[in-house]
Amino acid sequence: ETKPRTPVLWLHGLECTCCSESFIRSAHPLAKDVVLSMISLDYDDTLMASAGHQAEAILDEVMEKYKGNYILAVEGNPPLNEDGMYCIIGGKPFVDQLKKVAKDAKAIISWGSCASYGCVQAARPNPTRATPVHEVIFDKPIIKVPGCPPIAEVMTGVITYMLTFDRLPDLDRQGRPKMFYSQRIHDKCYRRPHFDAGQYVESFDDEGARKGYCLYKVGCKGPTTYNACSTVRWNDGVSFPIQAGHGCIGCSEDGFWDKGSWYARL
Ligand code: SF4
Ligand code: SF4
Ligand code: F3S
Repeated sequence: ETKPRTPVLWLHGLECTCCSESFIRSAHPLAKDVVLSMISLDYDDTLMASAGHQAEAILDEVMEKYKGNYILAVEGNPPLNEDGMYCIIGGKPFVDQLKKVAKDAKAIISWGSCASYGCVQAARPNPTRATPVHEVIFDKPIIKVPGCPPIAEVMTGVITYMLTFDRLPDLDRQGRPKMFYSQRIHDKCYRRPHFDAGQYVESFDDEGARKGYCLYKVGCKGPTTYNACSTVRWNDGVSFPIQAGHGCIGCSEDGFWDKGSWYARL
């Protein structure tokens, strides 16, 4: 309890802010406990009260004071076309802010599929050249927490692990924490017995849909998607997309926005 809280600087690039929306709904641990008791969230231009020069001054102050000891959390990504002009923060391109804050960070968390892979704003033809964080920052450990958005408890779980053990979680080859991304949605899906029995929904709202059959034939990407939705679920463990009747769109996988679309098949 007397240990100083680790400063976290949370930046926002090209994104929709739903990673933050997910985070604030964490139930275990509660987001308020993470923010008020576990970390010191010293900069987050979405959540902080201050704005403008005051906010940017805090960013500089924390970077100077906690050089090498703060965690950089990134939601969204930098667009690189037109010298970064498609995302301006504090009057400057976001890519400059990202590089500046990354320089003395202890580690970087890439929240969501935007920061991890590019996501919908990087969809072909990617007019702004939206680029994932690891293709801009090369000299820092980066933990990817993909998903559009990631599950709230996965986000707070990653932070809790890092603070409790003072180390990075074990990562897979793509840089995702193994504890949450080592299994496919399909591996633990409650509709899996129907898949194994060859019982499929053939079209939405058919008899199979009403009986809760497997959604593979209506596009479910659960067999190729690594995430914790079928075990941790959403909204404090209440449900997840497949339970709501729609197949997984693979939102935590690299390239899902192009590879999973009709466009990719043309
Ligand atoms: Fe929004 Fe998805 Fe990007 Fe998160 S990963 S900021 S939910 S578009
Ligand atoms: Fe697999 Fe999707 Fe069918 Fe579930 S609904 S068993 S994840 S294909
Ligand atoms: Fe995304 Fe599939 Fe989970 S669409 S929210 S990874 S079930």
